[in-house]
Amino acid sequence: MSASPEMSPAPAGLASRQAAVAILSQVLRRKRPLDQAAAEILAGSSLAPRDWGFARAIAAASLRRFGQLEALIRAFVPKTPPPHKAGPTLEILIAGAAELLFLHVPAHAAVDAANKLAQADSKAVHFKALINAVLRRVADEGPSVLAQQDAAALNAPDWLFERWIANYGEAQTRLIAEAHLAIPPLDLTLKRADDPYTDFDGALRLAPGRVRLTDAGKIENLPGFLDGRWWVQDFAASLPATLLGDVAGRTVVDLCAAPGGKTLQLASAGARVTAVDAAPQRLALIADNLARTKLSAELIAADARDWRPDAPSPFVLLDAPCTATGTIRRHPDLPWLKSAADLVNAESLQSELLDAAGAMTAAGGTLVYAVCSLEPEEGVEQIESFLRRRTDFARHGLGPDEVFDSTFITLKGDLATLPLYWAENGGMDGFYAARLKRLL
Ligand SMILES: C[S@@+](CC[C@H](N)C(=O)[O-])C[C@H]1O[C@@H](n2cnc3c(N)ncnc32)[C@H](O)[C@@H]1O
Repeated sequence: MSASPEMSPAPAGLASRQAAVAILSQVLRRKRPLDQAAAEILAGSSLAPRDWGFARAIAAASLRRFGQLEALIRAFVPKTPPPHKAGPTLEILIAGAAELLFLHVPAHAAVDAANKLAQADSKAVHFKALINAVLRRVADEGPSVLAQQDAAALNAPDWLFERWIANYGEAQTRLIAEAHLAIPPLDLTLKRADDPYTDFDGALRLAPGRVRLTDAGKIENLPGFLDGRWWVQDFAASLPATLLGDVAGRTVVDLCAAPGGKTLQLASAGARVTAVDAAPQRLALIADNLARTKLSAELIAADARDWRPDAPSPFVLLDAPCTATGTIRRHPDLPWLKSAADLVNAESLQSELLDAAGAMTAAGGTLVYAVCSLEPEEGVEQIESFLRRRTDFARHGLGPDEVFDSTFITLKGDLATLPLYWAENGGMDGFYAARLKRLL
């Protein structure tokens, strides 16, 4: 896994470009997640790691800037031919333009490779002249067209951009959307908060036990990977588990736990963790991380709506599945995969999971609910409606010093981070979390 795939060096590989175009087709046409599509295409290819990095870089840049690139290409070819006639012509154009404008590949190399890609495809071959002409124009005129574009608005789908304006106002929405255009740094949570982690040049210590790396390269090659000194976790994602307070020696039920960043935090804080997730293949990721970090937790594959602990727990963490719109900078495919219908489906699952989490919380116990979403329907509105359903729970708002920066705390006392926070240091994912106490 490469931490900053869009930063990889650019060898002149046709196979890399072929893989990038195949990944783009999977994401844009089949609505498959980038990571999944990339993993499958990599498994079926014989690309060397460096060429693979280039393929991912092209695909990621194409998706991060998809709105801009599509608008640019449509300005030159108002009606791009449909895929049943033209095969991957649009993907070849988007990927070629991404190379030219965002990966700074020399024009002759990018255009020549696009011509070869078209030549190799039985449908796109009929559009080879068009691809050649359009990409030459992109190379010449693209930078000045780009300078006139509204990048923030174009690279977010209208339905999301409009709802962010309604919820956050135009100025903040623009900053959120702009934050999604930057390649995010790699954040590590250290197993021991007092580990100085000075063995990576330029590591930025964000807070105790949290470091940030830029140009980190392959995760497996970073100092401390094999010794299990850390795990990868966005800085904002490391905050919700801390809202449970001191869990040393206590039982914590960690619902929707995979891939396990929060499980590892709780286990390293000395808790006896029961980690529940519905996806066994994702639980295996927690098992790997526990083994690597020499931490332990009980792992249970179950639907958290049905499963119950033997006895109600004093601490319950529910990190609910969501639209994940807070993580777009790390998942540039998300905007093009999600729809308003996904939001509605996520909301009803979240409310069922909250009811289940409520049933697992002991009297006097603490329940923390978290989502990596910017949408209030998945965050604060879930909590408001849970508190109306369950009058035996009350919000236990955060104190001003609990999470390193009081900007992260809402007027109601919940945690809410936005991708634009700490922008000068590389930003953070958007997370929402609320802490509730069970009264009776
Ligand atoms: C946001 S991710 C959790 C991230 C994790 N807590 C961490 O810190 O690494 C949501 C997880 O919920 C799981 N999930 C979805 N529906 C579930 C359900 N009904 N019961 C249990 N787990 C579920 C998914 O498999 C996914 O792993």
